[in-house]
Amino acid sequence: MTVLEYLRDEARRTGTKEGCAEGDCGACTVLVGELAADGSRVDYRAVNSCIRFLATIDGHELVTVESLSGPDGRLHPVQRAMVDHHASQCGFCTPGFVMSLFGLYLQSSTPDRDQVLDAVSGNLCRCTGYRPIIDAGTAMARYPAPDTWSRTAPLEDSRRAALRALRRTVSLRLPGFVAPTTLAALAEALEREPDALILAGGTDVGLWVTKHLRELSSIVYLGAVAELKHVRRTASGLEVGAAVSLADGWAALVALHPALAEQAQRFGSVPVRNSGTLCGNLANGSPIGDAIPVLLALGAELELRRGAQTRRVPLDEFYLGYKRKDLAPGEFIVSVRVPAPQPGCRVASYKWSKRCEQDISAVCAAFAVQVQDGRVGAVRLAFGGMAAVAARARAAERSLLGAAWNQASVDQAAARLAEDFQPMTDLRATGEYRLKVAANLLRRFHLEQTGNGHITRAGAAVEGPAV
Ligand code: FAD
Ligand code: FES
Ligand code: FES
Repeated sequence: MTVLEYLRDEARRTGTKEGCAEGDCGACTVLVGELAADGSRVDYRAVNSCIRFLATIDGHELVTVESLSGPDGRLHPVQRAMVDHHASQCGFCTPGFVMSLFGLYLQSSTPDRDQVLDAVSGNLCRCTGYRPIIDAGTAMARYPAPDTWSRTAPLEDSRRAALRALRRTVSLRLPGFVAPTTLAALAEALEREPDALILAGGTDVGLWVTKHLRELSSIVYLGAVAELKHVRRTASGLEVGAAVSLADGWAALVALHPALAEQAQRFGSVPVRNSGTLCGNLANGSPIGDAIPVLLALGAELELRRGAQTRRVPLDEFYLGYKRKDLAPGEFIVSVRVPAPQPGCRVASYKWSKRCEQDISAVCAAFAVQVQDGRVGAVRLAFGGMAAVAARARAAERSLLGAAWNQASVDQAAARLAEDFQPMTDLRATGEYRLKVAANLLRRFHLEQTGNGHITRAGAAVEGPAV
């Protein structure tokens, strides 16, 4: 059962709407509050209730649009701003927009336009137009603070105490579902039942249920394992546990390589990034999974575990073919490790899709090139959308390695991409177009790195890759 089904069919809290049932429209947006490990605060995040399974919010606080107004029925500033700015017409999308903006309201005291745009990147409106909604978002913080759900609400003692009382120390077990609370118990559960489905954020798996109508008979959920929620930064690099959300995982990657900021923001939408995990993207192994090229370029490796046995696998040896991985039954990803940046290493990543927000890549490219004395000392060029799996461009890499870091070498390497990939034609792009985009993204990377131009997010959407 999804959270949305529970809300509408069981709890009869029908303010939360169903539009697409696949995480794309935002009509179903709710907030999920989680008590921090040290109990100091409650972290509220917008999620798509249509693809979030109810059992995964055990022990959390669920906030819906009905929760916002005061006891006397007075509207919350977010709602008031929507009314005052005429930001609703048919109203179907409105509860979702309110909840997305409310998530931002709790986080930022003076949200600017870019923050508002990001917050509603997963919400569609077919009638009002976005301008009044965005106006409401930028104005909401200027309204007087409400009695309930002011920005300090997450610190209320009663809330923390209630959530503390709900904390589980033993696995939650339901028919066909288990949520172990320790790494050892997770490994044991999967060893006992190697064919069980591993569930993380459910932003891929949720759609198997809502769109493909699959019955999932046996699920092992890893999101309750505290040991998998770590983001560890050391001198040797970064380690991101399997239960870390895309939002937190990308934030850690951006802290390591600020050039990845745009890529991070263009992955899905805020609610998708709040529910989905970074490791789930790697495990799913889609040829157009956006984190895969980035982590291939960064030289990441995975820690895998089966029973008590652990092993490490470089990410570029993990994918064996279309949706085939070096992962045995009962084995799971514990974490992904990313080496620390090397001196002189330049990194960039580009997502090429029809829409800027919430779209699937036609091509995704990520590059890491180390330049020493004007020559390429190390190089990793990785692409998604170009083959049955996201992969490194080995021929292009060989061409660049040791070469002068100049336009001629980059052009030569770009030409070799045709040896690496024979991309397919589908509804997103023709094979020929994909190859051209891939080559031009490599050229663009070189131009940007050598100070010959930087193309902004807005500019990229308008001008295309041929710089
Ligand atoms: P889940 O759905 O829980 O699991 C996915 C698969 O991985 C399952 O087969 C599961 O068994 C397996 N799995 C998960 N964790 C582990 C583990 N630790 N060990 C072994 N197996 C595991 N993806 C993109 O790449 N770019 C996008 O822009 C993007 N946008 C999206 C927009 C929407 C609206 C939606 C619904 C999805 C989008 N996705 C996108 C896909 C999805 O969000 C990502 O692939 C996400 O990272 C999956 O992580 P998850 O935790 O939700 O995985
Ligand atoms: Fe469209 Fe959930 S109903 S995102
Ligand atoms: Fe009608 Fe947004 S007001 S869909």
